Amino acid sequence: MRVAIIGAGYVGLVSGACLAARGHDVACVDVDSRRVDLINSGVPPIHERDLPELLRAHVGRNLRATTDIVAAVAGAELSFIAVGTPTADGRTDLGFVTQAAGQIGEVLRVAPDWRTVVVKSTVIPGTTAGLVREAMEAASGQIAGKGFGLGMNPEFLTEGTAVHDFMHPDRLVLGGFDPQTQQALLALYQDFPAHIPRVVTNTTTAEMIKYASNALLATMISFSNEFARLCSAVGDVDALDVMKGVHQSAYLTTTLSDTRITAPIAGFIEAGCGFGGSCLPKDVQALVGQGETLGLPMPLLRSVLDVNAGQADEILRLASKHFLNLTGVAVTVLGIAFKPDTGDVRESPAFPIIARLRAAGARITAFDPIARPVDHPGLTSVRLASTLEEAVEDTDVIVVTTRWAEFTALPALLKGLAKPPLVVDGRRMLRSQDLARYEGIGRA
Ligand code: NAD
Ligand code: UGA
Repeated sequence: MRVAIIGAGYVGLVSGACLAARGHDVACVDVDSRRVDLINSGVPPIHERDLPELLRAHVGRNLRATTDIVAAVAGAELSFIAVGTPTADGRTDLGFVTQAAGQIGEVLRVAPDWRTVVVKSTVIPGTTAGLVREAMEAASGQIAGKGFGLGMNPEFLTEGTAVHDFMHPDRLVLGGFDPQTQQALLALYQDFPAHIPRVVTNTTTAEMIKYASNALLATMISFSNEFARLCSAVGDVDALDVMKGVHQSAYLTTTLSDTRITAPIAGFIEAGCGFGGSCLPKDVQALVGQGETLGLPMPLLRSVLDVNAGQADEILRLASKHFLNLTGVAVTVLGIAFKPDTGDVRESPAFPIIARLRAAGARITAFDPIARPVDHPGLTSVRLASTLEEAVEDTDVIVVTTRWAEFTALPALLKGLAKPPLVVDGRRMLRSQDLARYEGIGRA
């Protein structure tokens, strides 16, 4: 199928490269000409595993990037909208989505044949059948479902393993405003393995499935973090053992397996210094905002955000236990990316932690193997180290904020130091017995 993807960011570019790998002919559109040039020269503008290989294999063949949205949409049977949906003042900014919808609509006004337009961005439930449809109908002079097809196909990939996640999804959610679009989406994904469930539904349900998924993941993390705090306070109990016990308990019984608790939550019960990233915080906030607009207070999801915000205080508490106060104390923050294997720093838990350390008077150094956002406001008065070795030299405290594999070298690096620093493990990735002075989230 000939496909155009508007927005060549994490979702748009990865989706485009993967659809090209599945044999489709793909044009990725972006307003950022630097990004477009990089893609066309086979260089990924983002750090994402397996993407360089995909670009090398398909750019110049069945994958290209362009700033020309008109030509790309005119040449495509199906166009995706994959632009950003950031939050502004706690509300989702749908401006990029409606702008792209209007631009596509202009092309449809003069297009001679049937076209399908599908929203892939995460949008507030009701947006595709509401704002997007209205913008497209106004610009095209046609009616959705009659003059063109309209759909919503949420994306569940995670950064760091985005290519793998796209190629091997655990479900495909195919929302259609009209039956033709549901069929078009089924055809687009027909070469994906047959065992992957296809959830064929309407656009608003597809949008809600996306939000409910992210809200559940965020809730599980805050659940684990609240338990971790309780474990620390009770003493003689380790939150890691508790969550392993919760997850594994059903495997120990042969008859009464409680699969409600086991299978679905395997990956998201790691207590830590909080969830960040471009999606979980913004999507939970968006749901709270939508609930409020509809007169629903959403107390559970509010608490999920409150618990998450409190994890930075928990890090400060663990570090402060060892000093009279943190004024002048040298603290190294390891990890600026919101998770490992990405250079993305959006809503990284490192920033609120750095802000609290700074307010407490600490002298801060930060290091990340990939992310170096030198002008980021969250790094004001923070020294950026170039190597892990440099970062941990002559420091009093090391705070691990991102689970980078590189940081497993810490025990070896610190071994034998006359005055070993305190390590505050915000990701529970190191063993206390390997370090002279250790504090971890969720330990007695
Ligand atoms: P991003 O910021 O990485 O990319 C968005 C791109 O769209 C940018 O490159 C921007 O220049 C471009 N753009 C904006 N308006 C445009 C226009 N009118 N025409 C052409 N290009 C335009 O964003 P992202 O992380 O890829 O997220 C995109 C959407 O997907 C969001 O709604 C997000 O919530 C959702 N999502 C993201 C992830 C993720 O892991 N990042 C996963 C699933 C869903
Ligand atoms: C998340 C979802 O996992 C994806 O399914 C979804 O498509 C995406 O949001 C989105 O909508 O954008 P992502 O933000 O890339 O993906 O990364 P995650 O792996 O979910 O991690 C998010 C944050 O939660 C990170 O800061 C991570 O450190 C933290 N986390 C994750 C924990 O604190 N504990 C865990 O057990 C898991």
